[in-house]
Amino acid sequence: MDAGKKDRKPILLSGIQPSGHLALGNYVGAMRNWVNLQEDYLGIFIVVDLHAITVRQKPADLRNRCLSFAAQYLAAGIDPEENVIFIQSHVPQHAELSWVLNCYTYMGELNRMTQFKDKSKRHDDNINAGLYSYPALMAADILLYQTDLVPVGADQKQHLELTRDIANRFNNTYSPTFKVPEPFIPKAGARIMSLQDADKKMSKSDDNENNYISLLDPPDVLRRKIKRAVTDSAREITPDSVNSSGIGNLLTIYSVLNDSTPESVAQKFEGQMYSNFKGELADSLVAFLEPFQDKYHKIMSDKTYLTGILDEGAERAKYMASRTLSKVHRKIGLVAPGRK
Ligand code: TRP
Repeated sequence: MDAGKKDRKPILLSGIQPSGHLALGNYVGAMRNWVNLQEDYLGIFIVVDLHAITVRQKPADLRNRCLSFAAQYLAAGIDPEENVIFIQSHVPQHAELSWVLNCYTYMGELNRMTQFKDKSKRHDDNINAGLYSYPALMAADILLYQTDLVPVGADQKQHLELTRDIANRFNNTYSPTFKVPEPFIPKAGARIMSLQDADKKMSKSDDNENNYISLLDPPDVLRRKIKRAVTDSAREITPDSVNSSGIGNLLTIYSVLNDSTPESVAQKFEGQMYSNFKGELADSLVAFLEPFQDKYHKIMSDKTYLTGILDEGAERAKYMASRTLSKVHRKIGLVAPGRK
């Protein structure tokens, strides 16, 4: 891969944990923005497997999901020639820097993390130290690459704030070492909620698969999930439907698929029965996901191609990451290994 021009673009970095199934919420909240921003940034897109093991995973499933998620990044339109795509554990500098950053992160800070509190409640039989220090690993992911912009959902804002605090703390203690990254939080309105409980965010790791739309759901499953999605006791679309959580969420989904707004979708379908609108929504969804799924299956059937991209991504990432890591080691007083 040639260096030069591409390397001067500002850096955008993001990651998704290979757990559950990539859902429409991930596409709208994250992957779509990655694709849109890739012209102006050098994108670093990571399958964060080391984060995923903070919750118990079945080894064979985790292995498959790492490749499957990488293939879905590509199917969504991330250009592997212009971006760096890799699996987190392939670049050992992530684990190495995270240890150092653990020593610059206070327990008081980690105690305040809402994701830790939520996850400890959900996995109360396995509240491990990794789950607790998870934000220091995320800070390492970001700070290793001198990242400018981190597109994340609102639920990750707290982790990003902590990353900035850690970076500033380190920079102030020694001398400027890390770029302090900016968050990029996509506009509200395009938040996709659970299909069965519209007050809850659509989660890719939900136990009930009727709650989310997987990007890989086949057409009959997509149709069934939309048919079963909760609405309210009314029967027809009105302009006010956008304010009703269930039907409002379906209007949002339709608007996202058709580059519109929930308000104009409500206008378009005003007076129509919910069941009719749901049929149209299902058609839109099937048409939207079809080219994505075709591309995905093509990539997955050529493992040599896929692992080639991931290997190349990891090589490039290692080069970038090791520059930051050796600076860090030097500043804190670790002895550099002998050159020969
Ligand atoms: N913690 C993020 C999440 O659960 C995933 C993540 C790990 C991440 N490392 C990252 C996101 C670095 C952005 C940048 O969604």
